[in-house]
Amino acid sequence: MIVLGIETSCDETAVAVVDVEKRQILAQQIYSQVAEHAPYAGVVPEIASRAHLERLPALTSQTLKDAGLELAGIDAVAATVGPGLTTALLVGTTFAKTLAVALGKPFLAANHIEGHALSPMLAGAEPPYLLLLVSGGHTQLAMVDKVGSYTLLGSTLDDAVGEAFDKVGQMLKLPYPPGPQVERVAATGNGAGIELPFPKNDRSLDFSFAGLKTAVLDLLNGKNRHENADIAAAFQQACVTILTKKSQLALKQTGAKTFVAAGGVAANAAIRAGLQAAAAKHGAQFIAPPLALCTDNAAMIAFAAGLRAVHKLPSGNLSTRPVPRHPLDMPWPPATA
Ligand code: KG4
Ligand code: ZN
Repeated sequence: MIVLGIETSCDETAVAVVDVEKRQILAQQIYSQVAEHAPYAGVVPEIASRAHLERLPALTSQTLKDAGLELAGIDAVAATVGPGLTTALLVGTTFAKTLAVALGKPFLAANHIEGHALSPMLAGAEPPYLLLLVSGGHTQLAMVDKVGSYTLLGSTLDDAVGEAFDKVGQMLKLPYPPGPQVERVAATGNGAGIELPFPKNDRSLDFSFAGLKTAVLDLLNGKNRHENADIAAAFQQACVTILTKKSQLALKQTGAKTFVAAGGVAANAAIRAGLQAAAAKHGAQFIAPPLALCTDNAAMIAFAAGLRAVHKLPSGNLSTRPVPRHPLDMPWPPATA
């Protein structure tokens, strides 16, 4: 099954063609809107939606060309219907639905989080596996039992870890997008002399990053002066400790033999190294997809939606509407009111 996938949930306009059974990405294009949102220091939904609309036709033509395919060679058209920014999702879903109708092919409603959850299968992982999803919108530990069956073990009670990186980067006045810049700056610092508070004996699998973020703000406003690089290093180390500890608890609880990390924050080398060590301690194999598959992309969207169809799981239809929120363990597709 050859699926054309469209991803427009946030500030990346992405198109991909995937051979689902072969688990092969035939071609993909990503247009990052970073420069357009930079003047506002955050994603502006109106600007994101307009950029998706302007970019999708040419990106789709280029992706098909790269794959060596005509539109007639596509078996289904998939688009992210959620979670994400509703107006941005409307652009991608309307584009994909229109294409599907014109081609007389099925439209598949893709779940963005399921896309992240299944993307490690494009890098050799095979369910069941323990998943740590760490992105700008999500921090979750879940068992991926099989395609379409997920057990949520823990999630964030407040900020997502990527969001905390973004906010700390903003506090340190780093250029947009601030999250990845925190890693760059942390590499030049030493956080050893800075004590950041976070619960040390917390045995739950839920996360909280709001306190850590506030502690960084207090440090910046406090009497003791610290180098920004040292603060960034201390913050990053605290995140590594929290994510590693919770992952170890989950590895012990589930006995998972494979541990995978997905989402934009999994691009962070210190976090990857911490998670790899956690897996090794429990005799589990660690798999982190290549960076391009960790951050938002359309290959994971085409693949996840296509896999559901191949497994004859509900995949939505032309009536499936965009949804801003949709936890991984809730039935898919979202109900149409
Ligand atoms: O998965 P993703 O591309 O988009 C969604 O949120 O769905 O993740 C983006 C998030 C942002 O919050 C960004 O700051 C964070 O991932 N991120 C990083 C790094 N690269 C991206 N956080 C820490 N270190 C990085 N190197
Ligand atoms: Zn994402």
